[in-house]
Amino acid sequence: MPRTSIVAGNWKMNLDREAAIALAKAVDAGRGQAEGVDVVLCPPSVYVEAVGTAIGSRDPSQPASVGLGAQNMWDQPSGAFTGEVSAAMLVDMGCGYVILGHSERRVLLGETDDLVASKVKAALAAGLTPIVCVGEQLAEREAGQTHQVVSTQVRGSLAGLSADQLAKVVVAYEPVWAIGTGKVATPEQAQDVHALIRSLLAELASPEVAAGIRIQYGGSVKAGNAAELAAQPDIDGALVGGASLEAEGFLAIAAAFR
Ligand code: 13P
Repeated sequence: MPRTSIVAGNWKMNLDREAAIALAKAVDAGRGQAEGVDVVLCPPSVYVEAVGTAIGSRDPSQPASVGLGAQNMWDQPSGAFTGEVSAAMLVDMGCGYVILGHSERRVLLGETDDLVASKVKAALAAGLTPIVCVGEQLAEREAGQTHQVVSTQVRGSLAGLSADQLAKVVVAYEPVWAIGTGKVATPEQAQDVHALIRSLLAELASPEVAAGIRIQYGGSVKAGNAAELAAQPDIDGALVGGASLEAEGFLAIAAAFR
């Protein structure tokens, strides 16, 4: 089944309002370079609305050519959860996507597979496309535990989803040792884990559903290494950190997945 590649920029906690709007406009203007690829921007939550306005995603009659996503959300619909935002709030601000279970949240904030799974269900119920992140730490890779760690994360973070729900999820494989380090996984290392993830998805849903699920690679993706990653059969896009903070390089990455 042909899969539409998806390249998302995870801006993390970077930029100010003015720079966020300027970057969003520049990506929107150059988006034609990556025709046929889903391009998504994930700004800090306080800038989601401004970025949405800059790329026109808040007008439902005009399907935005650039998608809008958040970097996190809470799993409950409302209530006493100081500092958190709900899935419905993100939809209200024009989001179509949300990154969940990023390793920075797992490592720095103690997010567990159980919490990620609960957030995935809440996101899907609100109509958001979750981008669910998994990936091993350096010590785990060196100990030969990559497959075991990733399998546990995939099974845990996607627990309890029906095949129909799984079909709507995007998975991002982000080896933690490759994030922000300039050390990209080799195409062979990435493909190996992507194939593992697809086989797990086939078990959780069915081979047919798994064949349609997009699996992104993330971790030091740059314009210069995107093409060799894009050439791998199970790599369907990229989740880009540092290189997404500059329009030209980000669009070049997206174009590599055409
Ligand atoms: P870098 O592209 O900066 O390595 O970050 C990857 C990442 O964490 C995207 O979510």
